[in-house]
Amino acid sequence: MSEKAILEYKGTKLELDTIVGSENEIGIDITSLRAKTGMITLDPGYGNTGSCTSDITFINGEKGILRHRGYAIEDLAAESSFMETAFLVLYGHLPSESELTAFEAEIKSEATLHYGMKGHFEGFPDNAPPMAVLSAMLNALACYNTELLTTATEGPAFTIPTAKIISKVRAIAAWAYRTSNGKPFMPPRPDLSYSGNFLHMMFSETFSLYEPLPEVERALDLFFILHADHEQNCSTSTVRMVGSSHASLFSAVSAGVGALWGPLHGGANCEVIKMLTHIHEDGISPREFVEKAKDKNSPEKLMGFGHRVYKSFDPRAKILKGQVDNVLKALNVQDPLLDIAYELEEMARSEDYFIERNLYPNVDFYSGILLRAIGIPVDMFTVLFAIGRMPGWIANWREMHEQSLRISRPRQIYTGETLREYTPMGQR
Ligand code: CMC
Repeated sequence: MSEKAILEYKGTKLELDTIVGSENEIGIDITSLRAKTGMITLDPGYGNTGSCTSDITFINGEKGILRHRGYAIEDLAAESSFMETAFLVLYGHLPSESELTAFEAEIKSEATLHYGMKGHFEGFPDNAPPMAVLSAMLNALACYNTELLTTATEGPAFTIPTAKIISKVRAIAAWAYRTSNGKPFMPPRPDLSYSGNFLHMMFSETFSLYEPLPEVERALDLFFILHADHEQNCSTSTVRMVGSSHASLFSAVSAGVGALWGPLHGGANCEVIKMLTHIHEDGISPREFVEKAKDKNSPEKLMGFGHRVYKSFDPRAKILKGQVDNVLKALNVQDPLLDIAYELEEMARSEDYFIERNLYPNVDFYSGILLRAIGIPVDMFTVLFAIGRMPGWIANWREMHEQSLRISRPRQIYTGETLREYTPMGQR
C-alpha cells in the first residue's frame, strides 16, 4: 500500500496515491484527479510533472548523478564503447560478447543509404541547416521502409528499424555535410568502428582516405556515450509525444531532431562556440560578457551554463572538461577558446548571480571545443548530439509502447474570450 497524499479544495479532501521510484523519488499520482474533481494541475514547462515511469536513466540533479540502467556515466565513459552503451540503453543489460558482436554486425549491415535518397540531398540548397536535413531525411527513411512502420517493441520489426536509424543517421549527417560542400557521398567502410566510420564518411576523399587517430576516434566515441540518453528532456519527451499517437519510429526520431535543434537544448553546443568566438574575435573581455549575461535587459546568456535538472555540476561536463585537454594535446592543437572557456567558468563559479541560481557548466560547454579540435564544423555539432542521442530516443519510444501508454494529450486552462456573437463580414 502506498502512502497517500491529501489534496483539499473548498472543504473536500481527495486522497491521492504516491509512487516511490527505485531511488526513492516520490511522485503524487494524479491520474484520477480530473475524473474525481473536474480539476487539472497547471505546470507550464513541466518542471514538477512526471510524464512516465522509466527504467532507462536516473538523474539526481542535486548530487550531479547520471546513470544508465544503473551504471554510472563515469564508468561507461571510462570503459565502455558507444555501441555497448547503445545496447545497454536499448535493452537494459550490458551485452555479452556475442550479443555485442551481433548488434555491431546489424548496425554495420545498415550503414548505406538507399540510392533514391541521393536526389533529396541534391535538392536541398547549399546553405540548408544540417539539422533540418537530418530531420527531413530520417522521416524520409520511412518512405523506403514502409513494411517497418509499426509499433513493435520486440523481434526484427523492432531491431531492424532500430539498426537502420542508429546506423544510417551517420550517413545522413555525413551526406548532408558533403553535399553542402559540393563533395560526393563517401560509402562506408565495413572495417571501421561506428565512430571511425562516421569520420571516414565525413572527411575521406576519393583518392585520400581519412585515417582517424585512435585518440580522435575515442574522443568521438566518448562524445556519443555522453549523449546517449538523458531522461525526459525536451527532445525525448517529443519523441514519446509523437510516438504516443502510434506514428512510426522514423517520424518520432525525426521530430526529436526538431526539438533538439533549439539553442536552449542541443543547439547550445553551437551557440557556445559562437559565444567564445565572439569574445575572442570581437575584442570583448570575458568579464564584459559575464556582466551582459547577468543583465536581464541584455539578450545574452552564458551559453552552456544552467540546466533544468542539474543544480550542481553536470557530470557529463566534468568528464568532457577532463578529456578536452588530453585530446588537444594528442592532436597538438592549441585552442584559444579553451582558455576563454576556463576563464568564463572560473568567473561564473565565483559570482553570486550564478551561485544563487545554481548555474554550472552543462554538457554543451566543453563539447564544442572537443568537436572543433577533431575538425567537425560548428553547424554539425548539434547533428552529432542527435547521432549520440538515437539510442536514448529509441529506448524511450520502445518503453512507452511496452507500457501501452495512452496517447499524450495535456490539457490547458483556457483564458481567452468566452462565447461571442459572430458578425458576418461587411457588418463589422
Ligand atoms: N546565463 C545567464 N542566466 C541564466 C542562464 C544562463 N545560461 N541560465 C539560466 N539563467 C538564469 C535565468 O535567467 C533565471 O534567472 P531569474 O531567476 O533571475 O529569472 C534563472 O537562471 C533560472 O533559469 P531558467 O531559465 O528559469 O531555467 P530553466 O530550467 O527554465 O532553463 C536552460 C534551463 C538550460 C534552458 C537555461 O539554463 C539556459 O537557457 N541555458 C543556456 C542554454 C544551454 O546551455 N542549454 C543547454 C542545456 S544542457 C543540454 C541539453 O540537455 O539540452
